[in-house]
Amino acid sequence: MGDALAERFRRARRDPALAVLEGFHAVKHALRFGGELVEAVTEDLPALLELAAGLAPDVAAWLAANVVECPQGTLARLTPEPPDDVIALARRPAVAAPAPGGAPLILLERPTHLGNVGAAIRVAAAAGAAGVITTGPIDPWHPQVLRGARGLHFALPVLRLAEPPAGWRLVALHPDGEPLRHGRLGADACLAFGSERRGLSAALLARAERRLTIPMRPGVSSLNLATAVAVSLYLGWPEAGRGVVSEGRSR
Ligand SMILES: C[S@@+](CC[C@H](N)C(=O)[O-])C[C@H]1O[C@@H](n2cnc3c(N)ncnc32)[C@H](O)[C@@H]1O
Repeated sequence: MGDALAERFRRARRDPALAVLEGFHAVKHALRFGGELVEAVTEDLPALLELAAGLAPDVAAWLAANVVECPQGTLARLTPEPPDDVIALARRPAVAAPAPGGAPLILLERPTHLGNVGAAIRVAAAAGAAGVITTGPIDPWHPQVLRGARGLHFALPVLRLAEPPAGWRLVALHPDGEPLRHGRLGADACLAFGSERRGLSAALLARAERRLTIPMRPGVSSLNLATAVAVSLYLGWPEAGRGVVSEGRSR
């Protein structure tokens, strides 16, 4: 079982049709947001079910029926990361670029840090953004991005495109622009963020209708990419997070 399992997960890490979910929260979010899981394994099923009973009873029955217990030491063969309590494979959903109207869209131009992309997807999902688009070589469904996003890829469209999607009002978030004001972003805004090292390209800045800046004290050059996404959505869009938390905290 161990060799065949390790081989399936090794292949899945490079398979554009599959997503590797590492850790309880990633599996939980995939289940909550309609992900189609094909396989899930743990080394301690009773401990996993106890965790689910305390944190996410809504997914406990699925875990009890579907997670396979494997011998100690197996999970370390399925991931190059420190192994978590559960690891799973899911099918990537077929997603298209969303149309403007319901909520702002996040565009990450050529990001380089997998953890940053995951953190940006996580906060975009929490705020209720329309989706997250990336350009450049990074696969936004890379296992490390999924880890950083806690599996929230299943809560909104996440995809890579060659160009910014058409039809949206392109707004550049840039350290040199007009100050971002409270609640001024419309649901038709595509908020564009540049790469960690180089910022936004001249081509994208030229296409943008506006440049907005999150105010910073003198001497600070920029915010972290995912932090800039978080501040922009929660400060600029009045609907951020609305309807997401209604009856207490969802864990
Ligand atoms: C780490 S920053 C890039 C810094 C890059 N050296 C530069 O000069 O643009 C990544 C992205 O976050 C956004 N960002 C960071 N701080 C910002 C701020 N204070 N106002 C608006 N956008 C910001 C921008 O889109 C930026 O391209």
